[in-house]
Amino acid sequence: MELKTRKVVLVGTGFVGMSYAYAMLNQNVCDELVLIDIDRQRAEGEAMDLNHGLPFSGSHMKIHAGDYQDCADADLVAICAGAAQKPGEERTALLHRNAEVFRAIISPIVSSGFGGILLIATNPVDIMAHVAQTLSGFDSCRVIGTGTILDTARLRYQIGRFFRIDPRNVHAYVMGEHGESEFVPWSQAMVATKPVGLFMGENGSLNLGQMLQIETEVRDAAQKIILAKKATYYGIGMAMVRITRAVLGDEQSVLTVSTMMRGDYRLNQVYLGTPCIVGRRGVTGVVGLPLEQGEQAKLEHSAQILSGLYQGLRL
Ligand code: 2OP
Repeated sequence: MELKTRKVVLVGTGFVGMSYAYAMLNQNVCDELVLIDIDRQRAEGEAMDLNHGLPFSGSHMKIHAGDYQDCADADLVAICAGAAQKPGEERTALLHRNAEVFRAIISPIVSSGFGGILLIATNPVDIMAHVAQTLSGFDSCRVIGTGTILDTARLRYQIGRFFRIDPRNVHAYVMGEHGESEFVPWSQAMVATKPVGLFMGENGSLNLGQMLQIETEVRDAAQKIILAKKATYYGIGMAMVRITRAVLGDEQSVLTVSTMMRGDYRLNQVYLGTPCIVGRRGVTGVVGLPLEQGEQAKLEHSAQILSGLYQGLRL
């Protein structure tokens, strides 16, 4: 019996896409990685460059430039194509430009007969995931946005730094829009199984001011990085690999990705970041957190912003 090879197609070989590809190679995540870009020569050059690193990676990944027909038997298609923020620009300013890009990308993916999972990283990612779901007609569980997975990693890094504890032992989430209206439901933040508010490490517990400072640092992280180096790409590239692993490995892992609300938190027909169960069939469930009233209001505010922007599109 022939073993099913794990095949991933990447659309968009810019900084984010190639950070993802480079991390996929070094973590040996799949058996075949196909690079698609509007600039075919660039995709071919990126494939060559990665292939020359293969001998150092311990991976046997087949990496090559390709076209949309390669999606037919792929397990996952990752979309990073589109414009990225300029310094000081909000993610939502990219919406109409990137919706146009998606109109040209989604159709040939669907026409190829692709039956796997769409992973969207293009910003504004919550709305772009919704656009991809609408244009493809795929069930929403098959269309995943990177959502607030990177914001959640940034939050855990900051809380871990505050308490001098491994971020992997910090359980806290950023929810809502991957953008200005994102928020931290602090009532759900834990170190080990102890609520952050009660954790009395040598630094004492986090007071409200420190929580707000951490939340602001997380929300502003991308702008700071973009001001310093023009774009962010390593963090989001590695976050995409984490989601890809959960899909290819059918992990049923809890990751704060962007998914369509279908009655979750009393919300419907809007994509936003929340802890989701991710496996081979995409988002197989939403972990409904017991939000406090103020936190629910913040989530509804975020949903309202995202819904309004999505409704403004002419798809
Ligand atoms: C980030 O948060 C720009 O959305 C990208 O790093």
